[in-house]
Amino acid sequence: MQLSRRGLLFGTAGLAAVSLAGCGAGEDTKQLSGFTGISMPTTTSDRWVLEGADLEKRLKDLGYKTILENGEDDIPTQVSQIQSMIDQGVEFLIIAAIGNTSLGEVLSKAKDKGVTIISYDRLILETPDVDYYASFNNYQVGVLQAKHIISRLGITETSTEKFNIELFSGSTDDNNSQHFFQGGLDTLEPYIYGGSVVIPSNQTELEPTSTDKWSRDVARDRMAGLLEEFYQDQPLHAVLSPYDGISRGIVEALVAADFEPGSDDFPVITGQDAELRSLKAIKEGTGQTETVFKDTRLLAEVAVDMVKSIVEGSTPDVNDLGTYDNGFKFIPSYLLDPVDVTAENYKEVVVASGYATEEAIDNAPAD
Ligand code: BGC
Repeated sequence: MQLSRRGLLFGTAGLAAVSLAGCGAGEDTKQLSGFTGISMPTTTSDRWVLEGADLEKRLKDLGYKTILENGEDDIPTQVSQIQSMIDQGVEFLIIAAIGNTSLGEVLSKAKDKGVTIISYDRLILETPDVDYYASFNNYQVGVLQAKHIISRLGITETSTEKFNIELFSGSTDDNNSQHFFQGGLDTLEPYIYGGSVVIPSNQTELEPTSTDKWSRDVARDRMAGLLEEFYQDQPLHAVLSPYDGISRGIVEALVAADFEPGSDDFPVITGQDAELRSLKAIKEGTGQTETVFKDTRLLAEVAVDMVKSIVEGSTPDVNDLGTYDNGFKFIPSYLLDPVDVTAENYKEVVVASGYATEEAIDNAPAD
């Protein structure tokens, strides 16, 4: 389903109870000041650093107080940062979780104090205390990546040529991983069944293909192992990679095994997040050939609009009520569209929109 920022808006009557729940059961609606705690997961991936600052600025511009913390991939750190935000009296929490099932206890304490909880980009699971979800159509991310491989290699359902592909997925403790992976797998499936796509390692499930904490080094090591075991005497045509950092780890392993970026036998490699270093490789033809751009400025705007609506006594806009079940309930969500980026359209999508300049792309470190 294609959704746009101001796309389909559902009636809000059924959601009133959800937003009012943020004010604390049975309490009179008190005047909210917009005080918000922003909890980001890591600084190893560019987007969270940019978004933490962007969220903070947007909230401050509205005159709201903020606390911004980064959990640096450590669950206990994130939990204690959130606890401290609650102790300091935040009314809203915008959280991109490190572990999707690790926040139940601290969120129940937040809820006792009437805090509204917005799950940011990554869905928080197994707790009744999430009020809203702001994210992208995550399944579509995987669809775009797989379609890039199919079109780049010219694979058709009747191709007699066989294409060898390997699959990578993200961190299994991030709910998004399975959506990205499923989108990719479903899109490749007819070709796998038809025999034109082959996965020599036979690793086609989430667990064996996963990359703990989305780590570049973990991906590099897995790729090196796959090359050693399965590609001594056959070509590797493509690698489905869910995230730019992972893609760069895959490229590193390929280069170490004497594959030459840009040459005809260098595999097609996908990615996600439009990180500067990956945009540079896409532009210059020196590594991955695609990334999926998720305009994080729009995501920050969605989350901040949610806060603002509640402060102003109305109900946040959502455009999806039935996709994201967190184990307790379907979370009212606002989902944005991801966009496929290649050398052909990066200027239009990423540069013209002001997300990155040509200069910043050119000056990005080589890998
Ligand atoms: C995000 C991706 C990001 C990944 C690694 C996921 O939850 O949706 O955009 O690439 O985390 O940080």
